[in-house]
Amino acid sequence: MEYCMIRMNKITKEYGKNESYIRALSEIDFEVNRGEFVAITGSSGSGKTTLLNILGCMDCPTSGSYMINGKETASLSSSEQANVRNQTFGFVMQNYALIDHFSVYKNVELPLKYTKKKVTSKETRISELLKILDIEDKKNQMTASLSGGQKQRVAIARALVNDAEIILADEPTGALDTKNGIQVMEILSGLHQQGKTIIMVTHNPELIGYCSRIVKMEDGKIVSDKLPGQNG
Ligand SMILES: Nc1ncnc2c1ncn2[C@@H]1O[C@H](COP(=O)(O)OP(=O)(O)OP(=O)(O)O)[C@@H](O)[C@H]1O
Ligand SMILES: [Mg+2]
Repeated sequence: MEYCMIRMNKITKEYGKNESYIRALSEIDFEVNRGEFVAITGSSGSGKTTLLNILGCMDCPTSGSYMINGKETASLSSSEQANVRNQTFGFVMQNYALIDHFSVYKNVELPLKYTKKKVTSKETRISELLKILDIEDKKNQMTASLSGGQKQRVAIARALVNDAEIILADEPTGALDTKNGIQVMEILSGLHQQGKTIIMVTHNPELIGYCSRIVKMEDGKIVSDKLPGQNG
């Protein structure tokens, strides 16, 4: 039986109590099929990062059902959830989330330390990725000394090293200039063409053309879900 890769049903996320109470996500229904490239847009505070964190099992919903490949995530133990997180998802964060005093190679290697997958020739795989992303010559450099565009490419290499099914990217070009931003989008677009599923948060309307679907959020709700270029 073919499952929807990702299926959220009435997902709600609440934070705080009394005056600080906030409903960051409000009964979200959301499905993603294998091979989609989804853009998540919406104003600041609309719940995009919260949704991405729950999708990646980095955070739990307050209520609702979240199934990955037909499995209910709430029924998994915390170590099973950690396995799903490490094996199903690759994360690209807005602020790169690299370890500054590690070399490029060590940063990219990190997810492999937590995986149960058998990785033969780890060094070859990392070198290949660094080559594809055009940072192979930086392999032994500390990431602190790289430019923003180079750091983001290291972060993408790290997201790919596990051969994750789904790439989650939170404003992957947010800190980059136009040229580096386009380069990162070309890389993500290439991955999509190779069949990867990508869910990307972006504020930038110019990047939406790369995606196969555009989801707009407002006040913790999905208010539209359409193809690029489609009105309404
Ligand atoms: N850990 C938390 N504790 C309390 N409130 C939170 C927490 N995380 C997020 N929120 C609140 O939930 C709402 C949604 O936040 P979220 O970070 O998902 O927004 P966003 O759409 O990603 O915004 P931005 O575009 O600015 O990144 C905001 O009102 C935020 O203040
Ligand atoms: Mg955010």
